Amino acid sequence: MKRIGVLTSGGDAPGMNAAIRAVVRSGIYYGLEVIGIHKGYNGLIHGDYEIMSARSVSDILHRGGTILQTARCLEFKEKPGIQKAYHMAKEIKLDGMVVIGGDGSFRGARDLSLAGLPTIGIPATIDNDIACTDYCIGFDTALNTARDAIDKIRDTARSHERCSVVEVMGRDAGYIAVYVAMACGAEAAIIPEEKYDYVEDTIKKIKDGMMRGKAQNLIIVAEGVGGSVELAKKIEKETGIETRATILGHIQRGGSPTVRDRINASRMGIHAVKLLKDGVGNRVVAKKKDSIVDYDILEGLNMTKSMESELLECSKILSM
Ligand code: ADP
Ligand code: F6P
Repeated sequence: MKRIGVLTSGGDAPGMNAAIRAVVRSGIYYGLEVIGIHKGYNGLIHGDYEIMSARSVSDILHRGGTILQTARCLEFKEKPGIQKAYHMAKEIKLDGMVVIGGDGSFRGARDLSLAGLPTIGIPATIDNDIACTDYCIGFDTALNTARDAIDKIRDTARSHERCSVVEVMGRDAGYIAVYVAMACGAEAAIIPEEKYDYVEDTIKKIKDGMMRGKAQNLIIVAEGVGGSVELAKKIEKETGIETRATILGHIQRGGSPTVRDRINASRMGIHAVKLLKDGVGNRVVAKKKDSIVDYDILEGLNMTKSMESELLECSKILSM
């Protein structure tokens, strides 16, 4: 192993830069040359890259986004695209690769490994929905961004005695919704993992709260459920409480990473390089309790993860 590549793929996440920095610096520390591939698998297919040095990753630890940029690359999902990427990797003399991204990106990492390029995945997505790991880079920063925005919405909602419906990100997963609901004292977190008539249930909760003298209501909706504007209208119509919907959107993907994200990203980046330097590929790095571990990519992709029922229960108890 002499020369390794690193790329970021899929949706960006705060902390990706910290992971890139860790891969570059630990690679150099172990005597490897490190190549930064631009714009995800697109850059690998088209040979868009730069040679990294310890200095090229200076002053990025605290920055959101990814200095290598990221992309969703449809071409790479098909066999000819994977072959092109593999041949380019050989042309630029890569012996290994680190892919920082979500589970879509890991499917690509598995394909690259199968094609013959030892590849390691590092989990980074604000959705925190990769089954084999307790934690994905970006989650904590996104939670704090959402928490900050919701605290501000709460100030104005209280002044007007309004109900606030806030939609947070999470394409198929309700992790951001459940965590911020608890952290911000919401009446309900509506998530894709739970199937029930949430409109009726939410209206009942708000009406019950009114009987108990509640002057303010906060409802968190995960993006994967959607329909927050329609829900706000129904709440207003059925309860008579003025209701506003806010969709937080991409604000949750940016910003300076928290300490938790910087540290996890740094540890995971070093772990990935250690695997490659020992000649190990086709692994995904993961966090289990406080340890950094790794799994076979396919094994990792086949794992399932369910919403922590204790969290849901806590949120319900506290929303009285
Ligand atoms: P994330 O990595 O955040 O889950 P995506 O699902 O959009 O994001 O995947 C990112 C990229 O990974 C895709 O644009 C594509 O290049 C690659 N990818 C996704 N799924 C596959 C797949 N099944 N096989 C090969 N590559 C894939
Ligand atoms: O996977 C992270 C995520 O932010 C999801 O929460 C969201 O559904 C999706 O990416 C949005 O993707 P895009 O940036 O393409 O709009």
